[in-house]
Amino acid sequence: MSKYTVALIGQHGQVSTYLQRAFKHEKDIRLLVLGREQLDLSRPDTVCESLEAVEFDLLINPAAFTAVDLAEEQHEQSFAINRDAAAQLALVCAKRKTPMIHYSTDYVFPGDATEPYVETDATGPTGIYGKSKLEGENAIFATGAQAIILRTAWVYSNIGKNFYKTMLGLSASRNELNVVNDQVGSPTYAGSIADATLKLSLLLLEQGIRDDQFGVYHLTCQGQTHWADFAQALFKANAIGHMTVNGIPSSEYPTPAKRPEYSVLNCGKLVAQFGIALPNWKDALLDCAREEVA
Ligand SMILES: NC(=O)c1ccc[n+]([C@@H]2O[C@H](COP(=O)([O-])OP(=O)(O)OC[C@H]3O[C@@H](n4cnc5c(N)ncnc54)[C@H](OP(=O)(O)O)[C@@H]3O)[C@@H](O)[C@H]2O)c1
Repeated sequence: MSKYTVALIGQHGQVSTYLQRAFKHEKDIRLLVLGREQLDLSRPDTVCESLEAVEFDLLINPAAFTAVDLAEEQHEQSFAINRDAAAQLALVCAKRKTPMIHYSTDYVFPGDATEPYVETDATGPTGIYGKSKLEGENAIFATGAQAIILRTAWVYSNIGKNFYKTMLGLSASRNELNVVNDQVGSPTYAGSIADATLKLSLLLLEQGIRDDQFGVYHLTCQGQTHWADFAQALFKANAIGHMTVNGIPSSEYPTPAKRPEYSVLNCGKLVAQFGIALPNWKDALLDCAREEVA
C-alpha cells in the first residue's frame, strides 16, 4: 500500500513520460496518470468535475499546448489549455489545500537580457505561447493554490516532437543542415526535469515546505548555447560524423512565432531553497544519447 498518491496530468508528453519512469521506483508513491480521456484541458469548464472523485496528495501538471508556432493561429486553444485549464487545476488544489507542481517556460521573457534571467525579472513574451503560459502562471497564483511553478526551456528527449529528434531524423537523409545560431538558451533534457521534480515531490510529500517557499523557480540544465552548436553537439553525442552544421541568423529561418534571442535562466533560487540543480546541458545530452530507445 503506497503512502501517497500523485496525480499526473497528461500521458504521452516528454516530461510526463520521464516522470512516469522516474516515479516507477518510488514504492511510497502511487502515480495516477490522467490522460486526455480522463481530463480534457481544452475544456477548462470540465476540469473540476473530472477531478471531483480523484483523491491525491500532490498534483503535477506537465500538460500544455506546446506548439509555439501553431499557437499564433490557435489563440483560443492555447489560452484554454495553458491559462484557463491550469487555473482550474489550481482551484481544485487550493480548495483541498493540496500542493501542485506546474511547468512554465523561458518564453515568458522578451529575450533582450545580457545575463541569465532571475525569477523576479520583468516578463514580456514575444508570442502567444509565452503569453498564454505567463497568464497561466498568474491565474494559478490568483487561486491561492500552494503552487511551485518550474520555468524550464528548450526541452528535448527521445520522446515526442523536439529539436533533438528532428535533427537525428534529418541526419538519415542529409549531410548538411542550416541551423540558427543567434538564439541563446539552455537545452534541457526531460529526464533531468523528471529527476528534479521527483526530488521536489518527495520534499513536498514527506517534509513539506514553508508557505513562503511556494512560487516560481527556474529549472534548466546548466550552461548555455545556441541551436547550431546544440545540433553539432547532439550529432557528436550520437556518433554521427557525416553532418555539417552551418550557423545562420534567425532572419534566414522565419517562423510564425518570434523567439527570444536570449533566454538563459538563472537557476540559483532552486539550489538555494531546495538544494536541487540540474546537470550541465552537455552531460545531460550524453545521458539522453546513451538512453535505450524503444
Ligand atoms: N517543449 C519545450 O521545449 C518546452 C520549453 C519550455 C517549457 N516547456 C513546458 O514544459 C512542460 C512540459 O512540456 P513537454 O515538452 O513535455 O510537452 P509535450 O511533450 O508537448 O506534451 C504535452 C502534454 O500535454 C498534453 N495535452 C495537450 N493538450 C491536452 C489536452 N487538451 N488535454 C489533456 N492533455 C493535453 C499532451 O497529452 P497527450 O499525452 O494526450 O499527448 C501531453 O501529455 C509544459 O508546461 C511546457 O509548456 C516545454
